[in-house]
Amino acid sequence: LTRSQVVGQGAYLPERILTNADLAKIVDTDDAWIRQRTGITQRHIAAEGETTSDLGLAASQRALEVAGMRPDELDLIVCATSTPDETFPATATMIQARLGMTRGAAFDVQAVCSGFVYGLAVADNFIRAGQAKSALVVGAETFSRILDWTDRTTCVLFGDGAGAVVLRAAPGEGHAGDRGVLSTHLYSDGTHHDALYVDGGPSSTRTVGHLRMQGREVFRHAVVRMAEAIDTALESNGLTPGDIDWMVPHQANARIIEAMAKRLNLPHDRVVLTVDRHANTSAASIPLALAEAAGDGRIGTGDLVLLEAMGGGFTWGSALVRW
Ligand code: ACO
Repeated sequence: LTRSQVVGQGAYLPERILTNADLAKIVDTDDAWIRQRTGITQRHIAAEGETTSDLGLAASQRALEVAGMRPDELDLIVCATSTPDETFPATATMIQARLGMTRGAAFDVQAVCSGFVYGLAVADNFIRAGQAKSALVVGAETFSRILDWTDRTTCVLFGDGAGAVVLRAAPGEGHAGDRGVLSTHLYSDGTHHDALYVDGGPSSTRTVGHLRMQGREVFRHAVVRMAEAIDTALESNGLTPGDIDWMVPHQANARIIEAMAKRLNLPHDRVVLTVDRHANTSAASIPLALAEAAGDGRIGTGDLVLLEAMGGGFTWGSALVRW
């Protein structure tokens, strides 16, 4: 049996930090409201001219460095993003070109905040099927470019950034003790379009548009849907919540994350939290959190890591990874 082992991870955040106090100068909000409702204290914002592929490239280079691999050893690049540099070509191909890699395949997946879990699932299935021996999965976003900076109900929630992991095929025994991606679980329900969308695009308005969200509706669904995805992931591997070493959730809101952790009876120090400093970076949030926690030694070899996410569509999903 072939497993996809994580052999490297990397992250990149733009230099500029926008604090809650900075935001209070732009829209009618304050630090206390944002902290209390979301846990966010600051976010990183890409510089003028700094694009999603710039962020994704930097994260990818760091992940390859940790993996000790050259770009031309990769068979596949999957980039999860909802804020591509251009309508086409795929941001993944821009990263590919700038890595100096001209072989293999590169393409984007678009599942908004669930994008990284979707991208990981795609790459894992390529590796399991024997169609790739290694893959780079990138989550990169510049949500600052699609925010309505006059809408306080959304602009305080998001930030820019990128994260990446390198996967490599390795033999497994077919049980939950194997190192690598144990399973991935993807879901969507397109009837919830109006709860979270960008009001523009090449085929409808020929503009980029702005993010629109019914926050309460998203919150309500997020907790229920992600709980289901987590239960399925554990059950399908014969595992229980007590087996989880680390929960690395999509970082949308500290309250959603706390609700999920409480349900699993996971103590705070087993949950990787970055939303306080990064805000919601959509598809980048999970690989950013993974890179932070693996980089500082919290997540170590053999640890069972649970990933879960939910985003526009709705899309949602989970993955279990034995690090
Ligand atoms: N500053 C000050 N006041 C604000 C702000 C703000 N930035 N935004 C909204 N308010 C006001 C509202 O106008 C409202 O005022 P009113 O009572 O006078 O009408 C009041 O605060 C309460 O607003 P609610 O929307 O009811 O506040 P809620 O407690 O639901 O929190 C929030 C809003 C933080 C958006 C929450 O619903 C949430 O986190 N939802 C999940 C959305 C999410 O995480 N989306 C991310 C994308 S999808 C994903 O990644 C999962």
